[in-house]
Amino acid sequence: MPEKRLFVAITGASGSIYAKRLLDAIAGQYDRIYLTASENSVSIVRDELGVIDLEDLIPEGCGSRFMLLDPNDLYAPPSSGSHDYEGMVIIPCSVGTVGRIAAGVSTDLVTRAADVCLKERRRLILVVRETPLSLIHLENLTLLARVGATVLPASPAFYHGPQEIEDLVDFVVDRVLRQLEIAERLVRGWKE
Ligand SMILES: Cc1cc2nc3c(=O)[nH]c(=O)nc-3n(C[C@H](O)[C@H](O)[C@H](O)COP(=O)(O)O)c2cc1C
Repeated sequence: MPEKRLFVAITGASGSIYAKRLLDAIAGQYDRIYLTASENSVSIVRDELGVIDLEDLIPEGCGSRFMLLDPNDLYAPPSSGSHDYEGMVIIPCSVGTVGRIAAGVSTDLVTRAADVCLKERRRLILVVRETPLSLIHLENLTLLARVGATVLPASPAFYHGPQEIEDLVDFVVDRVLRQLEIAERLVRGWKE
């Protein structure tokens, strides 16, 4: 059986807690999870999660499944369409990253791998967090949706009766799991 691989990238939008929860939820689902964080995200991850090393986001006991990647390393495996991986989740995804992907500039590993996912017709899930959205953001997101990306705003609902911040986070991450076709549920479906 070929290895099941996914690329997860954290960018400099608020909401790194979504990335942490996603990594907890998917650690057992893949043979290999590539993980990177854009340079601009590092201080936000530190402020929001108190985490200095990306390594600290890897769930306990799962280290062997993860490969940490330098966000500027264009020689990393996900940079090439010839490397088999299922796709990519950018969580949280800044509108700056959205703009660069939409422009096809591919100047770092996040934008290059996103470009690879689009050209190879692989999953590209963008957990965008920004509000309000300008027309530039909306047009960039429209273009990316047209070429196959899934635009999944970090926009939790309230009909499941959230009590804690974690319940709101789970709502968004559950939607990512559904897109990845992972059977595990963090939130019960409507009327289930
Ligand atoms: C504390 C803080 C919070 C931010 N939150 C957001 C956000 O929620 N969404 C967003 O698109 N940008 C946000 N930004 C701005 C991005 O970090 C900035 O545009 C950066 O250039 C994005 O770079 P990257 O996409 O390469 O990580 C925030 C910046 C800071 C310092």
